[in-house]
Amino acid sequence: MTTDLGPETLTAAVIDSFKNTPDERLKTVLESLTRHLHGFVREVAPSIEEWETAIDFLTATGQKCDDVRQEFILLSDVLGVSMMVETINDEETPDATDSTVLGPFHMVESPERTLGENISPESEGEVCVVRGRILSVTGDPVPGARIDVWQANTKGFYDVQQPGIQSIGNGRGLFTADDNGEFFFRSVVPSYYPIPTDGPVGSLLNATARHPYRPAHIHFIVAAPGFKELTTHIFVGDSDYIDSDAVFAVKHSLVKPFTTNPDPEAAAAFEVASPFVEGVIDIVLHPALHHRTPHDATTKEIAR
Ligand code: BEZ
Ligand code: FE
Repeated sequence: MTTDLGPETLTAAVIDSFKNTPDERLKTVLESLTRHLHGFVREVAPSIEEWETAIDFLTATGQKCDDVRQEFILLSDVLGVSMMVETINDEETPDATDSTVLGPFHMVESPERTLGENISPESEGEVCVVRGRILSVTGDPVPGARIDVWQANTKGFYDVQQPGIQSIGNGRGLFTADDNGEFFFRSVVPSYYPIPTDGPVGSLLNATARHPYRPAHIHFIVAAPGFKELTTHIFVGDSDYIDSDAVFAVKHSLVKPFTTNPDPEAAAAFEVASPFVEGVIDIVLHPALHHRTPHDATTKEIAR
């Protein structure tokens, strides 16, 4: 029965409309989406004008997206949805390094670099060395792991945000861990920065009296055959906004002091002046999971 539907019967009718969905996971997702979305609308009881405002907001969010700007990821981030997805998926790998948000700026390929190379040749600021080991949950090194890193410059901008000012690839690097699973690269100590506020997400923050800042960090994606890929950050220990990240992405296990290393031999090995600042993080990977996770096919099926 799909006529004369009211608040009591509409939700059941929409859920019933999905009953022949061949993919069980897709069916589950759509049923749950319907239940929650209808529940939300019933609770908020928007006026027609408010509903139109919501549609306009989502339309503007889509229109703000292009090859190097992803306003929907930003929206998911400031609503805590990205972090919820990360945290749920992390529960499957409790012994691995904590993951955190991908963010909207992993939009270009990082240039392949050799260990020790400077990822920020066009950035001014305090030189630092970032180093660590890629390990398995058993404590064994993972030689050959691929380590993709990206960071903003000290003015708080990623390369893709400053065409004509920064070359694409400044602040980025793709490294291969050595035979001991070790990695090391040079950069500048990142600073805290505001997420982009010139779009609908900025209007949302403004309307809700929220600040747009993220504490200083460097992004990592670490991948190796036979292991679950890990998306994470190293956060600079004494950064402002560690306790109020605009996207709720700080895990204390990822906050590391960037300390001064006085050892001249280490400085010579890393080809930096002595003394130098360094941030150290070991990254532990979990063996690959072979069951279907929430990240798998469903979202792609819906998107088609
Ligand atoms: C970032 O760290 O690049 C980022 C993450 C979430 C929203 C905006 C930026
Ligand atoms: Fe970032």
